[in-house]
Amino acid sequence: MKKILVIHGPNLNLLGTREPGVYGRLTLDKINQMLKSAAKKSAARLVIKQSNHEGQIVDLLGQAKKHKFQGILINPAAYTHTSVAVRDAVAACGLNVVEVHLSNIYSREKFRHKSLISPVASGTILGFGPQSYILGLAALLDLLDPARC
Ligand code: DQA
Repeated sequence: MKKILVIHGPNLNLLGTREPGVYGRLTLDKINQMLKSAAKKSAARLVIKQSNHEGQIVDLLGQAKKHKFQGILINPAAYTHTSVAVRDAVAACGLNVVEVHLSNIYSREKFRHKSLISPVASGTILGFGPQSYILGLAALLDLLDPARC
């Protein structure tokens, strides 16, 4: 069974009421339930964390391998565009990392057009609302499948 770490970055704890026109009305709990049920069908085990703190996200990434995670699904949220520390932690963690975003960051404000994370992620899925997470998890599990060609 694959053990996957899911990291939700800053302000994602506010989903449901946070700018619903951009992020929709699903709460983070609901998204986590959707993720858990998708993981169950794929025989994967998820550990899900949310943090508003850059250093805490860096620590989660840095300790993931030691804690026997095989892959990481992350929505770095605003740190996507600002954090060299999160980018370096993704690059250093030694695991496949899939970056996801609810919104299409390229159709939004210019400052969101640059992801510092994408160049060091295994791949990025964005713009599909909560489905970005489900698609991201599927992509990550596919990457980890030894039978993958
Ligand atoms: C986000 C996009 C970021 O630009 C923003 O700061 C977020 C959420 C998304 O999921 O669409 O907090 O990562």
